[in-house]
Amino acid sequence: MGRRFMIIGGAGFMGSNFVRHLIKEIGDIEVLVYDKLTYAGRLESLRDLINMKNLKFTRADLCDEENLTKTIEGFDPEIIVNFAAETHVDRSINEPAPFLKTNILGVFTLLEVVRRREVPLVIHISTDEVYGDLWNIQPANERSPLIPSNPYSASKASGDLLAQAYWKTYRLPIIIVRPSNNYGPYQYPEKLIPKTIIRALHNMPVPVYGDGMQIRDWLYVKDFCEALNVIIERGKKGEVYNVPGLNERRNIEVVRDILKLLGKQLSLIKFVEDRPGHDKRYAMKGDKILALGWRPKTPWSEGLRMTVEWYMNNEWWWKPLLSDRYFQIDTPWGGERGASSRYWS
Ligand SMILES: NC(=O)c1ccc[n+]([C@@H]2O[C@H](COP(=O)([O-])OP(=O)(O)OC[C@H]3O[C@@H](n4cnc5c(N)ncnc54)[C@H](O)[C@@H]3O)[C@@H](O)[C@H]2O)c1
Repeated sequence: MGRRFMIIGGAGFMGSNFVRHLIKEIGDIEVLVYDKLTYAGRLESLRDLINMKNLKFTRADLCDEENLTKTIEGFDPEIIVNFAAETHVDRSINEPAPFLKTNILGVFTLLEVVRRREVPLVIHISTDEVYGDLWNIQPANERSPLIPSNPYSASKASGDLLAQAYWKTYRLPIIIVRPSNNYGPYQYPEKLIPKTIIRALHNMPVPVYGDGMQIRDWLYVKDFCEALNVIIERGKKGEVYNVPGLNERRNIEVVRDILKLLGKQLSLIKFVEDRPGHDKRYAMKGDKILALGWRPKTPWSEGLRMTVEWYMNNEWWWKPLLSDRYFQIDTPWGGERGASSRYWS
């Protein structure tokens, strides 16, 4: 019997890529995916794996303490990786409550359940966004202050602080991982790269927020999966690891590169009003993970080409998602304000 991994949020973009990576590249493991299947979680993202004997699936909420406890007791994981989160900044502007619930209370629930059980290692997936806007200043290292700018990043920073407190107070064996912007197959079409590809394929205008000069550091998701494995094998408990892409690009460049790959006119680009509180730059130093012997391998041109090809060849996966207003609307962060009070009732 191999090592037992419990992957919370394993039906989302990065989680499903990591589950595939574990099963196909590592071998001799058992994987349990624990996922609520929100709009962003889809069993379709695990379709090629779902019949494998070493993959099990439980549909449940991270905030459901009873269910989480039973699942952990039943499966007895050696490693828990928590990918589960509400992840789209635009949605967090309209309706912050689900972000606070999953990204803070959900993390708290996990920490509490694990505190009372023997789980050898918990990996919590955070984000570079917790460092806030790094326009014209040095990239963040793991000791840089957390200065989040929007409800999404504030909720993620809160989860990190709880995780750190549980390490210091209870010696709960946790590692926090902060990846930069990931891209690749199975990403929901609300996010910049898949939204651009799919809208361009339909000759729809491609919205660019503000002047498009915002900088993100792009990391191909398979490279991130390798980084995560390195951290699981060689990372130190209680530590934080940044995982940068070492590939800073302006949003407008990203959009232009996609349109060129698709052979589409740049006139599809439509500059729209900027997102409120939009951070101009995320950037991280990766000295700690680089010292563990990892580096991103996939050049941007190759990663982007593979991503575009994946979306061109897998219409079955994204077609059912196109009625979503976060795909349809150019500035979806407008409207729906005030929905949060209804959420809590
Ligand atoms: N995508 C990126 O570029 C990026 C970059 C840095 C960090 N991250 C972080 O990585 C993690 C994964 O991101 P992603 O892009 O794959 O997200 P995603 O939105 O594609 O998937 C999130 C998954 O979590 C599940 N989920 C949400 N709430 C849940 C709950 N209460 N209980 C159980 N499951 C729940 C969803 O069903 C879905 O399967 C997140 O924690 C995110 O903050 C993402």
